[in-house]
Amino acid sequence: MTRVLTYGTFDVLHAGHIHLLQRARALGDHLTVGLSTDAFNQQKHKEALLPFEQRHTVLSAIRHVDAVIAEHHWEQKIRDIRDHAIDIFVMGDDWQGEFDCLRPHCDVVYLPRTPAISSTSLRTHLTQGADDVPPTAHPPAPGA
Ligand code: CTP
Repeated sequence: MTRVLTYGTFDVLHAGHIHLLQRARALGDHLTVGLSTDAFNQQKHKEALLPFEQRHTVLSAIRHVDAVIAEHHWEQKIRDIRDHAIDIFVMGDDWQGEFDCLRPHCDVVYLPRTPAISSTSLRTHLTQGADDVPPTAHPPAPGA
């Protein structure tokens, strides 16, 4: 059994997240997602629209996701890799190179990010109303 691990905030879940989760899961047989807690997001100066419990509920319902764990701080990755017997660590390529230090512990794969959609743009749209550019109706899948 090949076990895959990824991390993120997954606020206002969108097609870019689903493409990432689908491709990460397809690399193995089991996908664990480390979901940033609200306190950790505060540390990262990222304010999610949805609280941890709601993001957890939504993410857990995705069929590509087998388990969701809490991400409390940057330093827990090596312990998570060991505790969950992880073979492959996956992130979007906006993080290219950032986690190469994990290579002694497992494979590290960066997947192309889906263009033209992000939680930040959706949050802006939702909180600022119709003045800003609406989110793309059909964001292209990576490689499409
Ligand atoms: N991701 C992706 N394509 C997107 C947006 C996100 O592949 N268009 C990936 C990221 O690279 C990361 C994972 O989804 O591996 C979780 O990203 P997250 O930070 O939660 O999503 P963003 O939409 O980028 O959020 P924000 O705008 O708040 O940074």
